[in-house]
Amino acid sequence: MRIIAVKDAGQMGLEAARLMAGVVREKPEAVLGLATGSTPLGTYAELARLCAREGLDFSKITSFNLDEYIGLDRDHPQSYFAYMKEHFVDLVNIAPENVFLPDGVAEDLEAECHEYDRLLESYGFADLQLLGIGTNGHIAFNEPDDHFVAATHKVALTAETIQANQRFFDRLEDVPTHAITLGMRGIMSARQLVLIASGSGKARAIADACFGPVTPKVPASIIQLHANAVVIADREALALTELAGQV
Ligand code: GLP
Repeated sequence: MRIIAVKDAGQMGLEAARLMAGVVREKPEAVLGLATGSTPLGTYAELARLCAREGLDFSKITSFNLDEYIGLDRDHPQSYFAYMKEHFVDLVNIAPENVFLPDGVAEDLEAECHEYDRLLESYGFADLQLLGIGTNGHIAFNEPDDHFVAATHKVALTAETIQANQRFFDRLEDVPTHAITLGMRGIMSARQLVLIASGSGKARAIADACFGPVTPKVPASIIQLHANAVVIADREALALTELAGQV
């Protein structure tokens, strides 16, 4: 695992966009694994700028998102589908039919999970998977547990995650309690992983994920086993690691 230490969230966003743009240029029909949350916003803004100003071409790109809330349909402003439309799909020249997210209102959620794995595999998995990290060390919505889950699955969100996501909803009761998340097989099958983190709220999770034991108690720690994983973290997120003070 390689760690790129950067000054702040702005640098983190640019660095991640640089790696993603490299994949898009090298392989115009690449599959990108995409993430939501506050952390990737700068990365998507930079990719949009590169598309508009420098002709970065997404027309043959396919994207697969990590997760979606159960119970929110695509038109709900807090659905991850709506997030992707607002921050990425409407801002670059990707074909909307090449953008995949799990369907959080599918009638048969089990079948939806199975189908999402099948579809991702049929595309040969992601060339690059972008990842954020939860304050509790989750990736996608793979929450701390006593085992890793390989397949895409339905998950009950932890109290900490529900609390963390409350900022996007009017009331705590409105925050979805369940989600569909890509499992570890889908994530770890990507050719490259790029995990981004900024701010002191992520410091514990980053220290444990990068330097602690590989354990499902800290789901992000599994990326230590990936042959091509890059962590891009800012000074505050690295505060509890030996890299603190080097940026
Ligand atoms: C959600 C998403 C994760 C994301 C995490 C961190 O739980 N499912 O994929 O990494 O939030 O979000 P943020 O970047 O807003 O801190």
